[in-house]
Amino acid sequence: MKPDFSSRFSFQEGENDFAVVLADFDRDGIEYNDLTSSNPTKIGFQYPREAIAHAFQSADCVTYRPDPRGAAEARKTICDYYGSKGYTIDPADLFLVSSSSEAYSYLFKLFCDPGDSIMIPAPGYPLFEFLSAMESLNAVYYRTKKENGWKLKAEDLSPKDISRSKMLLVVSPNNPTGSILTEEDFGSIRNILVENNIPLVIDEVFSDYVYGEEKHATILDEKTPVITVNGLSKSLGLPGMKLSWILLSGPKEWKKKAGEYLELISDTYLSANTPVQNVLPELFRWKNMIQSQILKRIGRNLAYLRSVFSTASVSEKIGCTIPGAGWYCVLESGLFFPEEEFALGLLKERRIYVHPGEMFGFQEEESIGKIVLGLLAEPEDFSSGIGEILEFLNISYSKN
Ligand SMILES: Cc1ncc(COP(=O)(O)O)c(C=O)c1O
Repeated sequence: MKPDFSSRFSFQEGENDFAVVLADFDRDGIEYNDLTSSNPTKIGFQYPREAIAHAFQSADCVTYRPDPRGAAEARKTICDYYGSKGYTIDPADLFLVSSSSEAYSYLFKLFCDPGDSIMIPAPGYPLFEFLSAMESLNAVYYRTKKENGWKLKAEDLSPKDISRSKMLLVVSPNNPTGSILTEEDFGSIRNILVENNIPLVIDEVFSDYVYGEEKHATILDEKTPVITVNGLSKSLGLPGMKLSWILLSGPKEWKKKAGEYLELISDTYLSANTPVQNVLPELFRWKNMIQSQILKRIGRNLAYLRSVFSTASVSEKIGCTIPGAGWYCVLESGLFFPEEEFALGLLKERRIYVHPGEMFGFQEEESIGKIVLGLLAEPEDFSSGIGEILEFLNISYSKN
């Protein structure tokens, strides 16, 4: 007997070339320099491990009092987090979930039926395509432009696409470009949301990692449905804690209905675990300690990039816009074309792992390729990796 599998998987046949090479490296014990890493728990940051262990030991991890919105004390901690940034949040507008990915699955259930379309950013977070496929949704890209700093502009939203879509997704700061949707930018697309009667979902997981001129704002609107997604993966650098949240804003009556339905979805799964909710106030006490290390590391890697790209021999051949936010940077060059071939060659020959730009939905340009690097790598690995890339391309660069 061979039961059929769901058609969800039809788009995903075959093995990824990078996964094959990396599996071979792992099997043969070959080390490589991973310039894509975005897992902060494995790249040399100090965590208050004992304090975290102690918090779990002291908390009541057993008594189960499920609340589909999440434990009241945990939601209060998240309200305090927003309070420290100057926002007043009603705990009733918060829903705790086990990850941002799960937050999306709830929001997709809230607004869409199988077969519906949603609009997602390109360039943007590659997982959106998989998350929408898992809910049997059709992901339609809107393309932001380099000349606009990759920011969402009203003209990027095709009227035909948006009129057929159930949600508009924005990542701010964006992964991988770092572009931010400011209050003003939001004002310029609000009419489109109203005319098409669709909610805006803003993923602000990178909102605490802003170092450019432009400031990030959490968008809370009383007239237009705007939903924010955030969580511990980035705000505390603790993806393994599996805790994220959905924050509702919008017209009062709409929010009430959306809250009732979200409660129903959440009650069906009740996936946010009790122990992590109980220790949330203690975890947030370490926010500055964790974030400051990440910010310092990114600052050092960006300073290195600035120094390398201020050298004419490098900047004549490779373009690099220093991002103002987020955990990634994008390099572009004719030498990276075709992207996948370049990135695979770099991995096989130099053991440097970078992402080809097409993975993030950068539109292919004639003979120009893009690669995406994470900014979290240890500074020695980051600088030696960039040095290897330049050597691989025969670009001379000597540090002063
Ligand atoms: C845009 C974006 N959202 C969310 C996440 C984190 O997701 P999760 O909370 O599921 O770990 C990431 C991780 O890289 C991301 O890039």
